[in-house]
Formats: sequence, C-alpha cells, structure tokens
Amino acid sequence: MSLIRVDNVHVAYPVHRGPVKKVLCGVNLEIRAGEFISVVGQTGCGKSTLLRLILGAESPTSGRVLIAGEEKNHPDRDRGYVPQKYSLFPDKTVLENVTFGLEIAEFGLFNRCTPRFFRRRREFQDEAYAQLRAMGLCDADGGKYPDQLSGGMQQRVAIAQALITKPKILLMDEAFSALDPGTRREMQKLVRRVWRDSGTTILFVTHNTHEAVFLGTRVVMLAKDEAAGGARVAMDLAVPGHESHEEIEAVVREIEYGARMDAQRV
Ligand SMILES: Nc1ncnc2c1ncn2[C@@H]1O[C@H](COP(=O)(O)OP(=O)(O)O)[C@@H](O)[C@H]1O
Ligand SMILES: [Mg+2]
Repeated sequence: MSLIRVDNVHVAYPVHRGPVKKVLCGVNLEIRAGEFISVVGQTGCGKSTLLRLILGAESPTSGRVLIAGEEKNHPDRDRGYVPQKYSLFPDKTVLENVTFGLEIAEFGLFNRCTPRFFRRRREFQDEAYAQLRAMGLCDADGGKYPDQLSGGMQQRVAIAQALITKPKILLMDEAFSALDPGTRREMQKLVRRVWRDSGTTILFVTHNTHEAVFLGTRVVMLAKDEAAGGARVAMDLAVPGHESHEEIEAVVREIEYGARMDAQRV
C-alpha cells in the first residue's frame, strides 16, 4: 500500500462575487514509504496547496488524500512541516521551540502543570538536545532566541522542531529558498543525510531544478492544464543513481525543457 495516495484531488477556492478559483484539477500521486519527492512548478500552480493537503491542514474540494490508507483531516505528529521561514516562535528559546511539538502532542495546551509534565519535560529536553546536535547545532544554541541565529541555523532548528516527533512524513516548502548558496548546499547535504538515516518519506517543494534532482529520488512537476483550469501532475520522473553526474544532468535538462514548455503556454 502507498504511504500517501492523492486520488483525483481538486481544490477550488471561493472568490467574492466571482467564479471559483481552480487551483488543483485532478491531481493523482502514489508515494511509497521512503521516497524523496521533489515537487517543482511555476509560482502559484498549487505546490504549497498540495503540501497543506498532505499535512491535513486543508481538505480537498473533491477527491481524497489518504495517509496509510486513511483520510486525516488534521495535522498530527506523523507529519512534520518546514516552511521557508517564520516557523519558530520568536519569544521562545531554541530548546523551547524544539520541545514544544512533543509537549503539545503528549499533553495538549492545557495539561501542562502536572508533576508528570515536569518529569517528561526533562526527557523532552534531552531528546531536543540530541536532535539539535544531529542538525549540527551545539547545546549552547539551545538557550538562544531565534533572532540570535543566522538564517541557516534557524532552518536547522526548524528541521529539528519538525523531526522531534519522529514523523513518518516530512513536508518541506521551499525550506532553503531564503538561504545563501553556500548554506543552502550544506542544508541539502544535511537533509539527504536525515532522509537516509531516518527513512522518513520527504516531500520537498523547490524552484531550483538542480536542488530538486540532487535531493529527490523522484521529481514531480505540477503545471496548469489550461482546459481544466487548474494544475495537475505534468511530469513524474524517477531520478537515477545520484552517483552519475551525466544522468543527473539529463534529468535536469528534461525538467527544464518541461518548465520552458509550461512557461511558453502562459
Ligand atoms: N486560501 C486561499 N484562498 C484563495 N486562494 C488561495 C488560497 N490559498 C492559495 N490560493 C491561491 O491558490 C494558488 C496556488 O497557491 P499555492 O499553492 O500557494 O502555489 P505555489 O505554492 O505553487 O506557489 C495561488 O493562486 C494562490 O493565490
Ligand atoms: Mg508555495
């Protein structure tokens, strides 16, 4: 069974006094556990919408999104999410930012003044430190506030925050787009390593074709289908072994050709 199944999904948003705005029009995807899917496509074609559907933060207008065979209408600890920025609470320390997800998952918002909570919090903190170290941060960073960190370090914390609940699925929405090229390359290696070591299934939205092909085991391109009025899957390519530079370049060329065709239509 697929871990994620997107089954003929349509998303349309109501528009004040106008016809609905169609965003996704018949998207189908089958994703197996352990795949690393890069999602590419023009701005506004519905990539973030697709991620929000898989996260359970939004429901399709029609069609179904199944996670391990079930429809899930709310985010839960099995699905982590890393946006481009602003995922950290500015008034919490790095450590508090990372433990927060565990606290909410286990105690909710209102049951946090019990002896058991304070006992568990020590364990959460140990796990958070381990997670921060795995992201290349040191224990002293745990006491800092997000605005004391560089953009790259903030994204390391954001990934630690998403991974602390050991999600089966990690959703990353242009997570490295705001970083300078050097930091971005480091973060790409980091996320490849996380994927290899944890076995987490990753969906990674990016505008950068090289990044998509370098990271993904598969690249999915969304593009607007003019006749349908919304986007669907226009390309779905397996990325062959990452050890061969020629094969990677061939996939990059194929995607860029597809993207040019898409851009010329508009
Ligand atoms: N809640 C919403 N209400 C109305 N329109 C929306 C909403 N969310 C997204 N959209 C529109 O849907 C389209 C796709 O958005 P999005 O998924 O963010 O695209 P992408 O991530 O590919 O740039 C955009 O035109 C956007 O303006
Ligand atoms: Mg987006």
